[in-house]
Amino acid sequence: MASLIETAPMLNLNPEQLQQHATPFYAYDLNLLRQTLQSAQQEAEKYNFHVHYALKANANTPVLDEMRKHGFGADCVSGNEVKAAIENGFSPKEVVFAGVGKSDDEINFALDQEIFCFNCESKHELEVLNELAEKKDTTARVALRINPNVNANTHKYITTGLEENKFGINAWELESVLELLQQLKHVQLIGIHFHIGSQITDLTVFKNLCTRVNEFQEWFLAHNIQLEHVNVGGGLGVDYYHPDENLIPDFAAYFGLFNQFLELRPGQQVHFELGRSLVAQCGTLVSKVLYIKNGISTNFAILDAGMTELIRPALYQSYHKIENLTSQKPEVRYDVVGPICESSDCFGKAVMLPETNRGDLIAIRTAGAYGEVMASAYNLRDRAKAVYV
Ligand code: LLP
Repeated sequence: MASLIETAPMLNLNPEQLQQHATPFYAYDLNLLRQTLQSAQQEAEKYNFHVHYALKANANTPVLDEMRKHGFGADCVSGNEVKAAIENGFSPKEVVFAGVGKSDDEINFALDQEIFCFNCESKHELEVLNELAEKKDTTARVALRINPNVNANTHKYITTGLEENKFGINAWELESVLELLQQLKHVQLIGIHFHIGSQITDLTVFKNLCTRVNEFQEWFLAHNIQLEHVNVGGGLGVDYYHPDENLIPDFAAYFGLFNQFLELRPGQQVHFELGRSLVAQCGTLVSKVLYIKNGISTNFAILDAGMTELIRPALYQSYHKIENLTSQKPEVRYDVVGPICESSDCFGKAVMLPETNRGDLIAIRTAGAYGEVMASAYNLRDRAKAVYV
């Protein structure tokens, strides 16, 4: 077998290590994770910006440990995520809780933990939160998640800031939300929150978001409301096409843009909720080729990993770079597919790979975000393990 080290330097795994783990498995490069977090933290600190890590991207304990050690807070979207954050050492004062459908149990749990802030998405939710807080004789701190109607220019399934989306409170409702808030004595408005989508690579989208945020800020000021913080969400995209060249996203450009275009009131804090850009690059799904099969117009390379381990290609037709870590033969074209009983279980069509054989190791890159967390047990599959290097 050719040296895996030569063909797979990015994994930092030697051949013995690679062979030693049962495939499929996720390999996480913790050094790269640390470098990424350092860069994000450094750039955010320049402007005194505060980042909450979006646990939904990857909630593995070693990943959460690094996030905490680098000073990030936690952005959660379920009671279990709030629980995971706190169990992994995040202070409840660093936890924000978003989501359009928080259950009573989840709200009660977060109230008991006295988390920093609920990002509320509807009038109805504000009423329920108020009622549950009253029963506990407490007050919930809330930020209104506002739907700014800004197009994120990304895949429609991960666009969240358009009026047609289910997320956030629409602008025309804000007047009545303020009237409602005056009656609700157990919720305290401390901020406004936005999140317009994910995998955003066109930074002008964030400039448009800033313009809208500034307009909303004016509106609240005109209504004599002081907001302690503005939360602009996450969404910074990564380069799935060139994972080795652009390992660390351009956090300087990203935070610099918000610093340049956001108009803040004295003492106001700015919060971010980054997920993908912090963890995507450090994760690789490693799989073995089970079979090669000739199709009418293509060859199929059938892997032991499928959409149950990484659903993004099947769900969003998203691109992940695929590499053969074993073979150095001349290239052949393959449809790289998984073993699941669905035709959408395909990692890539017409992929050029060195001639591939049974037993070859295949790396599917940039899988650290929304990979393992979105795994399912469909076809009663075992869960892939995680390996940290
Ligand atoms: N804040 C809120 C309220 C969110 O809904 C999300 C992601 C984030 C922050 C973090 O966004 P990020 O920085 O990771 O873009 N499964 C999809 C992505 C779904 C994102 C959902 N919300 C995918 O694999 O592309």
